[in-house]
Amino acid sequence: MSTSREHFSSKIGFILAAAGSAVGIGNLVGFPVAATKNGGGAFLLIYAFFVAFICLPIMLAEMGLGRRTQHSPYSAYAELGQNTKRWRIAGWLATITPFMIAVFYMVITVWIFGYLFQTLAGNLDAIAQPTYFGEFVNDYSFIAYLVAVTVIINFILVGGVRKGIERASKILMPTLFLMLILLVIFVLTLDNAMAGVKFYLIPDFSKITGSVINGALAQAFFSLSLGMGILITYGSYFRRNDDIVNSGKLVAITDTAVAFTAGLMTLPAIFAIYPETNPESLSDSSVSMIFSFFPQIFMQLSNTVGYGFASVAASVFFLLAFVAAITSLVSIIEVPTSSFMEKRNVSRSKALLVMGIAITILTLLAATSFGLLPWVSNVVTYAGIDKSLFDIIVDVFYDTILPLNGLLICLFVRYRWKRENFTAELSKGNSNYPNTFLHKYVNFAIGTFIPVILAIVFINTVAAKFFGVALL
Ligand code: PHE
Repeated sequence: MSTSREHFSSKIGFILAAAGSAVGIGNLVGFPVAATKNGGGAFLLIYAFFVAFICLPIMLAEMGLGRRTQHSPYSAYAELGQNTKRWRIAGWLATITPFMIAVFYMVITVWIFGYLFQTLAGNLDAIAQPTYFGEFVNDYSFIAYLVAVTVIINFILVGGVRKGIERASKILMPTLFLMLILLVIFVLTLDNAMAGVKFYLIPDFSKITGSVINGALAQAFFSLSLGMGILITYGSYFRRNDDIVNSGKLVAITDTAVAFTAGLMTLPAIFAIYPETNPESLSDSSVSMIFSFFPQIFMQLSNTVGYGFASVAASVFFLLAFVAAITSLVSIIEVPTSSFMEKRNVSRSKALLVMGIAITILTLLAATSFGLLPWVSNVVTYAGIDKSLFDIIVDVFYDTILPLNGLLICLFVRYRWKRENFTAELSKGNSNYPNTFLHKYVNFAIGTFIPVILAIVFINTVAAKFFGVALL
């Protein structure tokens, strides 16, 4: 099947699709809570600094590599890396990482779908019970929700780049923005909401430690969908004369703006309902915030606005989270799917079938990691902690390999592709790029301190996660 490669029909199509990938569950809860716990405005400043000065150059490198080669990560690295083993490994890592992260993200998306279903069915009171989540994750109803989510994702992906990914993003992203704004307006009108805004925005530099800085970088990196081969793949669907540089900037700005705005929903909601909350006591885990804490907040809210209205607000919240998660999942599953299509010369629907089966099986295994199946619930012990299959996927791929993939693309641009060729690619569609400060900065940073910082993050994570040694 050697049809010519499909492309996004417009720059805005690409931007919405890439922003759809970037805006995910991390933006809605993980980012606002991390900011509030770790110095409020001070964290926001550091985060914005990382987005602009570390993440944007990597983003441009990924998009540039994709567009230059018109291939998905594996073949992109193989082609420009002249098929040397070292770069084939980088390409392989950029293909397997999204596959594994898709599994862990799929588990969470399926849970969100389950909660959405329950709130729509009028069961807010049930999901707000403290014991509900523990029972829910060990319930076989998971399978029904998994089937539904798989059908939705396949429905989008089988349409291909324009009729699938681009079209879905054009509908879903504006819907997401609208729901977010409606929720922010609603939450800000509650009594006491301003206490949350204060904790979120007032800077406290005394909270900034090495591990907070590391956390901010990891959050920014994940939030922009870097290191997962996604922007290489989407870059390969970008037309030759489209402007990568400005599109990349717009994607970064959109993602950061959504994360920031979500803080104006998440924190005020918490403090309006529980004014006595100590920010330090908020959970680091987005999972426990979304599935345990938030249902309780909505249930408490029914004392003020009534059960019906609180249920509607909860449904909008879970729908928002679901839309954010689906557009991210679509982008991440597209990476192994398109690699498979390319490598095996098979049709999109065949590739999707194979990926769908593989991801479903692994998702089922990962989802049974919470006690249902003992052998996946406790696979190994490292750094003194028993780990389930789900934990291993998060530790290895999300925490450890993501920054490694970022490091590899920097080294690739510096030593193999060469920075002048990278610049030439970014200049297509933006002929003024070589004269800009951004160009000088990107070429300098990507060849010097960005890989050093990522190497430090990588070593620190390996030491902390697998050996229990805190370096930073
Ligand atoms: N950027 C997403 C988020 O913030 C992360 C992600 C992207 C996860 C793509 C999976 C796939 O949640």
